[in-house]
Amino acid sequence: MLTSVKEMCQKAKAGHYAVAQININNLEWTKAVLNTAQELNSPVILGVSEGAGKYMGGFKTVAAMVKAMDAELGITVPVALHLDHGTYEGAYKCIEAGFTSIMFDGSHYDIEENVAKTKEIVKVCHEKGISVEAEVGSIGGEEDGVVGAGEFADPKECKMIADLGVDILAAGIGNIHGKYPANWPGLSFETLDAIQQLTGDMPLVLHGGTGIPDDQIQKAIKLGVAKINVNTECQLVFAEATREYIEAGKDREGKGYDPRKLLKPGYDAICAKVKEKMEWFGSIGKA
Ligand code: 13P
Repeated sequence: MLTSVKEMCQKAKAGHYAVAQININNLEWTKAVLNTAQELNSPVILGVSEGAGKYMGGFKTVAAMVKAMDAELGITVPVALHLDHGTYEGAYKCIEAGFTSIMFDGSHYDIEENVAKTKEIVKVCHEKGISVEAEVGSIGGEEDGVVGAGEFADPKECKMIADLGVDILAAGIGNIHGKYPANWPGLSFETLDAIQQLTGDMPLVLHGGTGIPDDQIQKAIKLGVAKINVNTECQLVFAEATREYIEAGKDREGKGYDPRKLLKPGYDAICAKVKEKMEWFGSIGKA
C-alpha cells in the first residue's frame, strides 16, 4: 500500500539518513525503483513531474499503474507517490488521482501568495492523509521547461512556510536541476544550517541530487536533509545503456528487437543507480 512521505522523512531526519526520491518516466523505471527498494529494504519516493505525468497518459494512469504494481510485485517497503514541482492546478489533479504526497511549488509566486496557496493545499491534503512539500527559493536549472536561477532561500521565509504545517520543506541552497556546471561553487551549508536552526524538526529536501558529490551529500544529511531528489542521473544511465545495446547491434540479434529486451539494459542501469544512491543516502535496511 502506498503511503505519504511524512513518517518516512521524519524517521530519516531522526536517524540521520535521507530517503531517495527517484523520478519515474515509464513502466520499466517504476518497476526498477520498486524492485530495488524492496531488495534493499529501503523506503522510497516515486517522483512524478507534471511533464512525466502527461507523458505517461495522465496522473490517474500513473496512480493506477503504481498502485497495481506495488501490490502485484509484493512490495512491502514504504513507497510514496509524490507530485514533483506541482502547480496549483496539478496539485488538485493529483489529489483526485490518488497520489499520496504533493509538492506544491509556489516559489515563483510572491511570498504572500505562496503562503495563501500552500495553506489551502495543506488543509485539503491533510484531510486526506496526503503529505505536502513546499519550496522556498527557486532551485536553479531546468525543470519541465521552467528555468530557475538557483536562489538561496531566506531562512525566515522557510520558517514562515514551515509553520503552515507542511510536512517537508525544499529550500534553495545553491542546488540546481540537471548537470552542475564546472564552475559550480557547491552547496551553501551556511544557508542550510540557518534554515535548519529556524525550522527545527522539519525534514528538509535537497533537489538536484544529480552530480552532488558524496561529501556534500553527507554534510547536507547532517544538517537536516531527509529527502534527496534524483532524476537526471537515472535518465543518463537509461539512455546510455539503451544506446550501447543498439550500437552493439544486439537489437538485430535473435529476438533482440523484442521491446522487453531492448529496455532491459536501461532497467538494469536504473536498478544499479538507485542502489548506489540508497547506499550514499544511508536508507538501506531502514524500511
Ligand atoms: P536532478 O534531475 O538534477 O537529479 O534533480 C531532480 C529533482 O530535483 C527533481 O525535483
